[in-house]
This record gives sequence, structure tokens and C-alpha cells, in this order.
Amino acid sequence: MKDFLDLAALEPERVRELVARARQFEHTPHPDALAGKVIALLFMNPSLRTLASMQSGIARLGGSSFVITPGQGTWAFETRPGVVMDGDRAEHVREALPVLARYADAIGIRAFADGVDLDADVAETTFNAIAGPCPKPVINLESAMNHPCQALADFKTLDDLEVPADGRFVLTWAWHPRALPLAVPSATVQMAALRGMDVTVLRPDGFDLPDAVMARARSIAEKTGGRVDVTDDRRAALDGAHVVYAKSWGSTKNYGDTATDMQLRDKLRDWCVAESWFANTRDARFMHCLPVRRNVVVADEVLDGPRSVVLRQAENRMWGQMAVLDRLLNEDETR
Ligand code: CP
Repeated sequence: MKDFLDLAALEPERVRELVARARQFEHTPHPDALAGKVIALLFMNPSLRTLASMQSGIARLGGSSFVITPGQGTWAFETRPGVVMDGDRAEHVREALPVLARYADAIGIRAFADGVDLDADVAETTFNAIAGPCPKPVINLESAMNHPCQALADFKTLDDLEVPADGRFVLTWAWHPRALPLAVPSATVQMAALRGMDVTVLRPDGFDLPDAVMARARSIAEKTGGRVDVTDDRRAALDGAHVVYAKSWGSTKNYGDTATDMQLRDKLRDWCVAESWFANTRDARFMHCLPVRRNVVVADEVLDGPRSVVLRQAENRMWGQMAVLDRLLNEDETR
């Protein structure tokens, strides 16, 4: 494995190997696995879990890390090609990444969607501009349309909880006061398809995931024996569900148009996951990647109740990323 950019690009067997390795790290200390290795962590956007779990995981394996947050103690980065850099961005990623690569053995990069042009974000224009000049292994710590570290942690969480591999997985849109990125829902629908699950995306009109994301999820499901559907019928979607995974995201119908998105979502405040949603499920687990807005996305009664597995998901971020780093930096490529 040269980079870790996209969980769904891996064969299911490779994902299961990563989960197995993550479990080894969870149960047995390996304090020398990354001895002498340095990992650069470049955060163009804020984080709690990703930053802390990467640093903790690297330290547990005997490695070290440094964090770069452009514009906050580091020069602001320009990512666009061919621009006249006469504004406030003093350093271009075309130099910055090769420089960081000289100090580090691998680089983790977080760069969210620009949220203006859906096609550009689906094409991962900004992330690719940053990662492209990097000659060292790259870990995607969340890009415009992907969050493979979250997806790996969620895959492990489902396995930990012995959720049937062909079980019913509902990814539900939830209300939020503003348009959020598509990275987690896109990675989640593909992760569940990769696991062979019967996936339903429950969303109101105007909030479809991008066609390319759904087409890929369906293509993955065809190979794994899974299935991917879309509906706005909450009762039908939740009937018999093993998992309800909540996430808010912006309207793709009005991508980049904040005012219209706000008008559309203003009528959707009842999309807050409550205990009543689970009445006809198979005592479903509740999942969310965090951070989550209480009583906006999900009611306290669910988040604080026994069906919530959000803390396990967050912990699995660390074990999963440790497995990824081990594979990137220690794997024998002749295997
Ligand atoms: N789930 C997740 O990526 O959390 P952070 O944004 O806090 O890193």
C-alpha cells in the first residue's frame, strides 16, 4: 500500500486485514512499530478526533509527529495552479509539500471541500493539488468527498459489534443549521457497500449524494453482494434496520448556493434522530462520526442511550490509523 486515500479502492480482504491489524494494536502494545519514523500532519481545517487520534496512535507505536495548520503560525498555503500570489497566501503547496516530505516519512492531509463547484469537489481538486507534489506516502485525513480513516474505523466498529455483514444499514440525512461537506456520507455509503450490507440512503428531496458517489457505491455492492437504495420514506427505510448512521450534508441540488440551501433545510428540522425512529428497527445501533450537535442532529435520549456507539467509533479511529501507518511504513511491498 503506497498511500491511504480511499477505503473503497481496497479489496474487502485488504480492509479485513487492516481491521485485524488494528485489533492487534488494540489488544497488544507495539511500542517499536514506528520507531524512528516521523509523520507530518497537515490540517487545512479544524479537527478534534483526527488530530488527537493520529498523534496518540503514532506515539503508541514509538513514532513522532508534527502538526502544520497553515495560516495559524505557518504561512497560509496557496493551492491553485498558475495564480499570481500577490494576496495573503505566502507559500504554494508545490514547494510546501516537498519541503515537509523531506522532514517526514509520511504525511497526513486534511483539506475539506471548497463547497462552490460540485464537479471540482467530486474531482478532489484541492486535495489533489496539495497531495500531488508529495513524494512520500499520503494519508487522507478527510478530503472533499472522502474520509477513509473514518470509514475504516466504522467498518471495524460494525465488526466489533457483530453487525451482520449483510445487515440493513441506513444512512440518514439529519438537520443542521448550515450545509456540511459530503465527505463522511460519501465514504460511509461506500464503506457499507464494501462490507456487503443492504444500504439505504434516507434523505429529503434536494439532498441526494452525488451521482458519481452513488454509482460507485452500487458498483461496489454488485461485487460484494450488497445493495444500495435511496428513499425519503423514513418508516420504510428504518423497518428492520440494524444500524442507523446519521449525518448532515449540504444540498447537492443547490451546491454552493447558501441562501437556497438554507431555505430548503429550514423546513426539515424534524430530521433530528429520536428514539421513536427505532421502533421498527432490529434494536438498531446509532452511529455518527462526531462532532455532533445535540438535539439538532440527534436527541440526547439516543446519543446518551445504550444504542449509541459513537465513542467506540471515535476510539477505533486510533486503532485503524495505527494499522494504516504500519502498513504504509512497514509493509513488505513484495507481498
Ligand atoms: N470524525 C472526525 O473526523 O472528527 P474531527 O473532525 O474532530 O477530526
